Amino acid sequence: MKTIKLGLLGMGVVGSGVVKLIEKNRADITRRLGADLIITKVAVRDLTKPRSVSLPEGVVTDDPYAVINDPDIDIVIEVMGGDEPARSLILQAIAAEKHVVTANKHLLALHGDEIYAACESKNVALGFEASVAGAVPVVRAIRDGFSGNRIESVYGIINGTCNYILTRMAEDGSSFEQALMEAQQLGFAEADPTFDVEGIDTAHKIAILASLAYQTGVDFHQIHVEGITGVGPEDIEAAKEFGYVIKLLAVARRQDDRLEIHVNPAMIPVEDQIASVGGAMNAVELNCGMGGINTLVGPGAGEGPTSSAIMADVVEIARHAILGDGYPMPPMGAPIHAVSPTPIIPMDQLVTCYYLRFQVADQPGVMARIAGALGECNISIATMYQNGRQRKANKPVSVMMTTHTACEADVKRALDILIKSNILLAPTTLIRMEGGE
Ligand code: HSE
Repeated sequence: MKTIKLGLLGMGVVGSGVVKLIEKNRADITRRLGADLIITKVAVRDLTKPRSVSLPEGVVTDDPYAVINDPDIDIVIEVMGGDEPARSLILQAIAAEKHVVTANKHLLALHGDEIYAACESKNVALGFEASVAGAVPVVRAIRDGFSGNRIESVYGIINGTCNYILTRMAEDGSSFEQALMEAQQLGFAEADPTFDVEGIDTAHKIAILASLAYQTGVDFHQIHVEGITGVGPEDIEAAKEFGYVIKLLAVARRQDDRLEIHVNPAMIPVEDQIASVGGAMNAVELNCGMGGINTLVGPGAGEGPTSSAIMADVVEIARHAILGDGYPMPPMGAPIHAVSPTPIIPMDQLVTCYYLRFQVADQPGVMARIAGALGECNISIATMYQNGRQRKANKPVSVMMTTHTACEADVKRALDILIKSNILLAPTTLIRMEGGE
């Protein structure tokens, strides 16, 4: 029987998951491939660190070059994460004509162009299904499943940690800190969880999906990114009052020849298909033109789901390696020379509905001044709600408002007027709303 030899760079949560998955499903994988998969080398940073898997003597090394320079290895699986040395090692593995599978969204969002071009020039494969939405095959869906369509929008929940935190806060009143700690214990969170809660991980992922969907380079630094640390229990309760749930939303939509792309907490109507997707689950809605609206839902983080996506790539690449037919799929689903940049719409030009929570003194005339500032900036109020009565001087009361569709620049202008008016006792919370008019 033929063998396909694998080398791993890294053996943390995901790398260990890959080892376990191969052992657990070896018979099925071998039957599907008609070949056996063998892990021949695994490079780790610290040889003394305890691991949840054991490998035969001599397989584990602290020298990553023992993996990328091993002439027998067909596929290098990079699961170390981060920028360097992952970037350099991947580029060297490609230069050595090895196929690469990676879960590294950070790297692809920032250096994808360089890595995609290197793969194309060496005619080797790059598998990165695991970089977005865990087990959910969204990269394949965009690149293969809907390759006959013009994708109009990619929209969804693509960070399991934030979805877990927001779900726990909404469903059982957990604190942000408690829910984050649980997400870390469950192996969902990034090594640096600020990447999750500040929206950076989500931005990495939407940059990758947008590049694939629109065959464009996306300048990561132009993506508007907000995380969930400003979302409080009061906002979650207000959302319920108004018939919404709060999710950390990633959006990449075509608008003529420009691209709307942003990551922010958003209020989503409860009846929306993705509103009920809770816990660490991810959901990606693809508006595929003639292919209709398709929503993919599944576990988006953790050892099992991420290693499942890695193995999907390994099996696909191994099939081509066995056939020896080269690798027909360019990483971006189109040759690099066909990829062109798309201008990104400045956030100030966004038109949507807004939820605003003002913290003000509970005294006559305050509501009128807020309404006046909004009116002056051409913003129409949809609903207004005050949370109880605040009798203590200098203690704020929360006043929540939702607006009809407004231009973001106008909303910012109204907030500036209110900041200068000195009626705000604390910063205002702004959450964009989906589905309003
Ligand atoms: N930290 C990520 C998440 C892991 O919570 O979704 C998967 O990329």
